[in-house]
Amino acid sequence: MAKRGIFSVVSVVAVLCAWFCVSGIPVSKAGDGDAVKLYTTHCKACHGENGKPTELGFGLEARDLTDANWQSKVTDEKIIKQIEDGTPEKMMPFKTKLSKEEINSLVPVVRSFGKK
Ligand code: HEC
Repeated sequence: MAKRGIFSVVSVVAVLCAWFCVSGIPVSKAGDGDAVKLYTTHCKACHGENGKPTELGFGLEARDLTDANWQSKVTDEKIIKQIEDGTPEKMMPFKTKLSKEEINSLVPVVRSFGKK
């Protein structure tokens, strides 16, 4: 039993390492560095570095976050709610992964994609 525990810890660490290797590309863009890092870690896989859906995101019908029409209509509250609750089978909820402050800090990052 004790051995098993160690194995599962090792595999979790291995998965985390793999994830960070793929997603941990340094970002040097304007805006709040920590929030941009959060975006890179948690959102980029589907929404792309600049808010344009990736192949994975496109397959799930992810919103194009650069869409000016959507940006002009969506409220900050709606963006926060989407990040908190997600959409079943499309986007996972983040309210258990990120703090309220972290979720709030992602709003300006999402907004920055609408500015050209
Ligand atoms: C697994 C892929 C995936 C990840 C990771 C992901 N999203 Fe999404 N996101 C989606 C999909 C798919 C939709 C479209 C959902 C729908 O149509 O209801 C979406 C929709 C959205 C929307 C638009 C909601 C609206 O009003 O239409 C916002 C904003 C958003 N995501 C932000 C984020 C942020 C911020 C993160 C990181 C914390 C994130 N997403 C992570 C797949 C993802």
